[in-house]
Amino acid sequence: MFEEDVSHTKWMKRAIYLASLGKGKTSPNPMVGAVILDKNRNLISEGFHHKAGEPHAEAMAFNNLKKDAKGGSMYVNLEPCCHQGKTPPCVDKVISSGIKDIYISSEDPDKRVSGKGIKMLKEAGVKVHLGLCKKESLELNKSFIYRNTTNNAYGVLKWAMSIDGRIALKNGKSKWITNKKSRSLVHSYRSEFDAIIIGGNTLRKDNPLLNTRGLKAPEPIRVVFTKTLDLPEKANMWDCKTAKTIVVYDSSTANEKLLTRIPEQVEVEKLSSDNPKLISQLLAKRGCNKVLWECGPKLATSALKSGCIQEIITFIAPKILGGENCMNPFGDFEFQEMDEVINLNHSQVNLVGSDICVKNFLKLL
Ligand SMILES: NC(=O)c1ccc[n+]([C@@H]2O[C@H](COP(=O)([O-])OP(=O)(O)OC[C@H]3O[C@@H](n4cnc5c(N)ncnc54)[C@H](OP(=O)(O)O)[C@@H]3O)[C@@H](O)[C@H]2O)c1
Repeated sequence: MFEEDVSHTKWMKRAIYLASLGKGKTSPNPMVGAVILDKNRNLISEGFHHKAGEPHAEAMAFNNLKKDAKGGSMYVNLEPCCHQGKTPPCVDKVISSGIKDIYISSEDPDKRVSGKGIKMLKEAGVKVHLGLCKKESLELNKSFIYRNTTNNAYGVLKWAMSIDGRIALKNGKSKWITNKKSRSLVHSYRSEFDAIIIGGNTLRKDNPLLNTRGLKAPEPIRVVFTKTLDLPEKANMWDCKTAKTIVVYDSSTANEKLLTRIPEQVEVEKLSSDNPKLISQLLAKRGCNKVLWECGPKLATSALKSGCIQEIITFIAPKILGGENCMNPFGDFEFQEMDEVINLNHSQVNLVGSDICVKNFLKLL
């Protein structure tokens, strides 16, 4: 019995590993991997969902079959779909294959599927085993689950600071606080995201490229959030050959005459700037599961206050910027008592050459 459990876990972990190969490419879909064993428990196929619009993990696994799956088992980290989307329903394929047992880590939070796929499998006589490696599976797809259950994109806020907690000099200069290795790491982190958000002032001060330097194709969407539309005529982000750029502005506060400065290849959207959560919702609606906020203190403070941030990545460099007027990662939250401050969940700490990278998590809603 114990050996059986170990074997089931082994195959589900394989499915989760395969799923993770789609990291950063599957949105608005989840990351899914599937493994098929024959009736003698020999591996006869596997597959994973590469990107949205392409076959689902189960379909990939059926396409790769080396032997008849009749009487065999399938391991899949998410409930198979039962609706016709860009690709046909996976439950039909599982049922018609004659698979006897299916091991599923977690239910799909997508309302079109949630529980219905499992019900259809059971009704067709397939034995469903739900919950194997559930924790790992939920962790892998937490941004997909977050978007489906809240209609907001899962937000990660990232900044780089000196050991004395400064993110820029008082004149706004911040290139470069961290070392080259940390900056390369940021490029590879960016490839896990569907969009990267900054405020207008970061565009004016830093003129960033805000891309993965070719690590991801297509690159994450770059979003500039502005109240004023006071953006430069020339900016690195206006070159949209490899990455899309969207300027999101508030028509109640912006000078719309300045729209002429924005080149036509850049998309423009109107949105109230009162609550940055609207940006999170707008991007979720466009299919972004996970977004990276790389903004300065003003936008970071309102994004954190309004619940757009679920995770924080801080790079700390062994430098002292000093000065009362140098920039902090945040503005004032106006806390009066220590029990009002924001407590973060557990930390992951890594050394990146001479820098330190710390990941913290906020409580999910
Ligand atoms: N070290 C780091 O990690 C790091 C990272 C990012 C930025 N920085 C530095 O931070 C500085 C810029 O800081 P910043 O605070 O002005 O950042 P920001 O990222 O430009 O955000 C503020 C801007 O966002 C726009 N905005 C739209 N809605 C908003 C809202 N609800 N609340 C606040 N802002 C809203 C406004 O743009 P408009 O003014 O266009 O209306 C506002 O000026 C630069 O010097 C940059 O170098 C450092």
